[in-house]
Amino acid sequence: MIFNNPFSLLSEIIPSIAMQTFLIVMVALVVLGTVVDIIHKKNVKYFFENAKKAKQNATKQLGVGEKASVIAKTVIYDIGTTSELGAGKRRIAHLLGMYGTILFWLSSAIMIFCYSSSSSITPLAWPIIWHVGAIMTVLGGCWFWFFLRVDVYSEAQPWYRIIKADLFVLALIATSLFGLIWSYLQYLNLSNRWDDKVFLVLYIISNLILFGGVYWSKFAHMFYKPGAAIQKNLAEADGSRDNLPPPADKPEQFGLGIKREAPKHY
Ligand code: HEM
Repeated sequence: MIFNNPFSLLSEIIPSIAMQTFLIVMVALVVLGTVVDIIHKKNVKYFFENAKKAKQNATKQLGVGEKASVIAKTVIYDIGTTSELGAGKRRIAHLLGMYGTILFWLSSAIMIFCYSSSSSITPLAWPIIWHVGAIMTVLGGCWFWFFLRVDVYSEAQPWYRIIKADLFVLALIATSLFGLIWSYLQYLNLSNRWDDKVFLVLYIISNLILFGGVYWSKFAHMFYKPGAAIQKNLAEADGSRDNLPPPADKPEQFGLGIKREAPKHY
């Protein structure tokens, strides 16, 4: 199964152009959801006003080279390794899900646009990347959802309590999981079977929820977080520190109490 391009087999019943249109509609939904979110929350307006205000407190004028270096370091380290999540399982689970999703989406786009006709020959790498990406997303997403999310980890809520904030992670897991099951059932190629069609429909519905639900879910954090990380590091490099006071020159003395329990009450 892992060597099969599921979209190439699908083209026997659904034309490639329909798959390509679906993918373009999903991208359009993400853009629309994010723009509406930005207008509603006014977060980007606040972000730029704050950055403009902070610039006045800059103690150093950064050159183009210095800015490029700060941005490159932020992209590689802060964003590429989600350093914000510190060391530990929270970060590993996020990296699994994040890179899994990137691989899954990238290979889906390549296979749908370049190799989705039944006559095309797909290079082996793409179906492998698609299946591995989906497995990584399911593993990272489930690890986060069952064990690490704040309600379960810190607030002792049962894992089966579902709230609106779970929309993103659950839709993400669902797309990858239904995609994998659909690919497997389609690969079995049993005649007169209907079950692969059921999972194809579930795969389509979960994609509609994931990409159509951007306004209501945490989807857009994948754009906001990198923007905020770049701004924070630029503000540190130019001395403006986002209008925050300079660090204290006293040693960090918080008393012994702080060592009693690792912080986990958010
Ligand atoms: C393809 C890109 C990404 C995917 C698929 C992804 C996926 C996820 C998921 C599923 C969650 C859990 C959401 C929830 O609370 O229910 C999450 C949380 C989070 N993400 Fe991402 N993410 C991506 C990109 C990023 C980037 C680029 C950053 C930072 C630079 C980032 C930082 C975070 C943080 C700080 C959390 C909160 C984690 C926690 O509560 O433990 N993510 N992400």
